[in-house]
Amino acid sequence: MARDFSTVGVVGLGTMGAGIVEVFARNGIDVVAVEISEPALERGRATLTGSTDRAVAKGKLAAADRDALHERVHFAVGLDALHSVDLVIEAVPEHLDLKQRIFAELDRVCRPETILATNTSSLSVTEISVATSRPNQVIGIHFFNPAPVMKLVEVVRTVVTSPEVVADVEALCARLGKVDVTINDRAGFIANALLFGYLNHAVGMFESHYATREDIDAAMKLGCGLPMGPLALMDLIGLDTAYEILDTMYRRGGRDRRHAPVPLLKQMVTAGLLGRKSGRGFYTYERPGSPVVVPDEVTPLATDAALADGARAITKVGVVGSGTMATGIIEVFAKAGYEVVSVTRGAEKSAKVCEAVKTSLNKGVVRGKLAEADRDAALGRISWSATLDHLADVDLVVEAVVEELSVKKALFASLDEICKPGVVLATTTSSLPVIDVAMATHRPADVVGLHFFNPAPVMPLVEVVRTIRTSPEATATARAVCAALGKTGVVCGDRSGFIVNALLFPYLNDAVKMLEASYSTADDIDHAMKLGCGYPMGPFELLDVVGLDVSLAIQRELYLELREPGFAPAPLLEHLVTAGYLGRKTRRGFRDHSHR
Ligand SMILES: NC(=O)c1ccc[n+]([C@@H]2O[C@H](COP(=O)([O-])OP(=O)(O)OC[C@H]3O[C@@H](n4cnc5c(N)ncnc54)[C@H](O)[C@@H]3O)[C@@H](O)[C@H]2O)c1
Repeated sequence: MARDFSTVGVVGLGTMGAGIVEVFARNGIDVVAVEISEPALERGRATLTGSTDRAVAKGKLAAADRDALHERVHFAVGLDALHSVDLVIEAVPEHLDLKQRIFAELDRVCRPETILATNTSSLSVTEISVATSRPNQVIGIHFFNPAPVMKLVEVVRTVVTSPEVVADVEALCARLGKVDVTINDRAGFIANALLFGYLNHAVGMFESHYATREDIDAAMKLGCGLPMGPLALMDLIGLDTAYEILDTMYRRGGRDRRHAPVPLLKQMVTAGLLGRKSGRGFYTYERPGSPVVVPDEVTPLATDAALADGARAITKVGVVGSGTMATGIIEVFAKAGYEVVSVTRGAEKSAKVCEAVKTSLNKGVVRGKLAEADRDAALGRISWSATLDHLADVDLVVEAVVEELSVKKALFASLDEICKPGVVLATTTSSLPVIDVAMATHRPADVVGLHFFNPAPVMPLVEVVRTIRTSPEATATARAVCAALGKTGVVCGDRSGFIVNALLFPYLNDAVKMLEASYSTADDIDHAMKLGCGYPMGPFELLDVVGLDVSLAIQRELYLELREPGFAPAPLLEHLVTAGYLGRKTRRGFRDHSHR
């Protein structure tokens, strides 16, 4: 029979602890909530009150239930108050010596049968457990932030944790309405092992002025559908906590340089910029603890005038190419009111593209998203050509031909001869250096990357890539055009993978390495990222959709450019590609799709 948990203790009421108290109290369990001092206790109480009040205001919790919830929580200073609880969850700062001291004390204070759990993100549960006389009753119960919202709990068993304790804790998680994945004691477990390399990389991008904080965050939200961008997430986690987690993972997890905290992090922590909890981190918040971002001295001006500052007027746009991307891009520009000249390699191809654009626009009409008159007007704005000569008077050219440098360079050399001065020349390349293409012309200052996402009419993001030769006017023009298309243009440097792929694919590759090491299963890893981090798809689901060959090619590019050992493609990924398991398109990738 499963153990009855009628009273639990929570130690440390910071970012995580206060949320964990709420989770238990919401589910009818009495909680003894413990802090180190009266002021800290008050802060914890205020966090709980703020959170439950917000839930009531949003209609997610009845006022009476809130009051009952609060009655279940008993606040106290000092661990002595935990003498008769059934389970303790520790959520104090991420320092091994502190946690060991607390566990030794808990061991003395608590009843012999009490389970002692840590919410650590990266420290060894085993090392914490040996500070007690009951390591078999010590376990990791790793909640995700915010604890009341995120469905996942990682249950971490050490080599000595008793199987009954694991089973009891799993049953408890189910009672709390959480989904648990049970795993062994390894730095970062599943989710953080996959998340923190990505977060640290994003901080590195920000530190090196590769892109602004707003653009890095917008790129990952809009390009990957993540609930928040990496820098906003760092602020939510707390920069001090994130620093400690990275530092521990670096030391415990094989000294992977990608986990060595980016120097800026340490500086920010030292300066007291801890994220939301201190009111300022990468962003500035209304007040400490508030989720509301307020403008500060680096917030970009959002007005149309600022966006158009230095931008050239664009009315007529040339689109070169006849593939999926070109087709989508033609539609996007025509719908937004631009005159479009489509150039393909022949009348037959033009006819096909024209058909595809018509079909797509018609779908919009059927779904009630586009008026028939607007469809006709959009089609009327497109002219079809098989020669680049028709691009002599356009204001912007978007190239979306095959992803081969020699082809793109030859095309840009021709555009250089044909187009009028002042035209912005854009390439949609997703993997080639934009500067190579730019240098095929005599006007590299006018060349940018415009990296649309597939399907272009749907995806809200465009990466605007500026090379070391791109002029501010060309960048401003590209950004203004994105805004006029109703898309978010994020500006970044000319490096392999730009923002989105550079941050996304190493994470996917890491997931493959984790599977390959048999630490967990594809299902549990997918679950962990979806339920712990709010990702729309798990890494293996996404790899099967994107295609394993495409993913491997991108990962290889990233590795070759940066020579980062941690970016080396996972052998399992290479083997699957060699075996022809490319994902959904071949009906088999990480999963078998033949029956779906
Ligand atoms: N922040 C996250 O997103 C997140 C997510 C999952 C797990 N965790 C883990 O949860 C733990 C807590 O992290 P956090 O971000 O909530 O930290 P935090 O700094 O926000 O809160 C820690 C709290 O512990 C209290 N404390 C310190 N010493 C204490 C003691 N001796 N007795 C009682 N209370 C004490 C502090 O006063 C503070 O309120 C860490 O192990 C962290 O790795 C954090």
